[in-house]
Amino acid sequence: MPKLKSCTKTMDFTAALFFFALLISSSKASDPCGCRPDNSDLSMIQIYDKCSPFNLPKPESRVNKIINMASKDSARVNYLSKLVAQKTTQVPVASGQQVLSIGNYVVKVKLGTPGQTMFMVLDTSNDVAWVPCSGCIGCSATTFSPDASSSYGSLDCSLPQCTQVRGHSCPASGAAACSFNQSYGGDSSFSANLVQDSITLANGVIPKFAFGCINTISGNSVPPQGLLGLGRGPMSLLSQSGTLYSGVFSYCLPSFKSYYFSGSLKLGPVGQPKNIKTTPLLKNPYQPSLYYVNLTGVSLGRVRVPIALVYLEFNPDRGAGTIIDSGTVVTRFVEPVYEAIRNEFVKQVKGPFATIGVFETCFDALENAEPPLITLHFEGLSMKLPMENSYLHTSVGSLACLAIAPVPTNVNAAMNIIANLQQQNHRIMFDVANSRLGIAREACN
Ligand SMILES: *[C@@H]1O[C@H](CO)[C@@H](O)[C@H](O)[C@H]1NC(C)=O
Ligand SMILES: *[C@@H]1O[C@H](CO)[C@@H](O)[C@H](O)[C@H]1NC(C)=O
Repeated sequence: MPKLKSCTKTMDFTAALFFFALLISSSKASDPCGCRPDNSDLSMIQIYDKCSPFNLPKPESRVNKIINMASKDSARVNYLSKLVAQKTTQVPVASGQQVLSIGNYVVKVKLGTPGQTMFMVLDTSNDVAWVPCSGCIGCSATTFSPDASSSYGSLDCSLPQCTQVRGHSCPASGAAACSFNQSYGGDSSFSANLVQDSITLANGVIPKFAFGCINTISGNSVPPQGLLGLGRGPMSLLSQSGTLYSGVFSYCLPSFKSYYFSGSLKLGPVGQPKNIKTTPLLKNPYQPSLYYVNLTGVSLGRVRVPIALVYLEFNPDRGAGTIIDSGTVVTRFVEPVYEAIRNEFVKQVKGPFATIGVFETCFDALENAEPPLITLHFEGLSMKLPMENSYLHTSVGSLACLAIAPVPTNVNAAMNIIANLQQQNHRIMFDVANSRLGIAREACN
């Protein structure tokens, strides 16, 4: 990427936006580069350039981590978008950053008899669970050992479960194990055999739980100790547990820097909040695993951001709408929605603004002690985000960033994603049986 030497105005806007800081109004006499664009102009300066007004050290570890985590989102957003273009058990939940250095949430489960402990990632946008198995190529050290389990069994291609797994393949004739290949996170893939064994989550046991036993991984995004699918489809944990949990679960995700396993996953109707506000869950027949909700608007502070409803509309044929997802880090909006929010933000907050990673709206928190909070309006309920879910305080000087991002422009997507940073310290209840989603504040750090 060439360095910006002067106040060039001929640069491709989108490309420049990605790599350079967005500087709105900079007519100071002390401008280190002597650039004087008029106030209506957007001039682009790389954030660590000497022309930057922020005078910043290179960002380091913690902020890098979240930025890296959020940049991995792009691959996930891509992957989710591609999909579209086509008895109570309480389990502790920890930030994957603490346990596995990943931007996801993990639960501790026991697989097999006697139970082998695995830290599996919670994923509400996937159905089939999978773990790396012993002998796996490309897996990290912790694997599940089928040989050491007395309740383990393989599953044959002829079984109806096999046909429900995305990417399965069976020979035209003769018996064979049910095997499948899937991509994950946009840049990785694995191959696995569908097998069954008992799975234990806290005090809840599901016998003969079908999951993938991974034998090959390529790429770096596959969760190292497996994934627990909490999606809506027939192979997810909820569906396979039958009447045990009555089609209800909820979670509270702690902040990334929270205490080890302070969050919780509650499976089943007992102990769920009684008076929680709910919004309908919508069904996309083409994407039965995903949890769609009806996002009807966004406010910044007291201002309802002017957003044309067509960009929020649920439309399965176009793949348009909003999903709630536990595996994406930062909430993404389709470009027109994002731009409307950014424009309102720039009106309410004192610039200049900088770009760090996927965040274009970083500002000086000392100059803006009380930036406007984000409220997400869903049909039937509004979710007012607290400061820590609206803003990311970086360790770069006194910079804070509005913690939302646009859907990457290379993605053909009409889908907004409500991500895990915005869900932290809330009880999010998925009542699939009654097709509704409940949201309430709950501290679980
Ligand atoms: C999975 O991919 C591997 C490598 O590309 C291939 O050898 C194997 O046959 C595939 N398996 C299935 C079930 O598609
Ligand atoms: C979403 O909510 C709006 C406002 O209540 C309503 O008009 C619209 O029909 C809802 N959309 C769906 C798909 O239910």
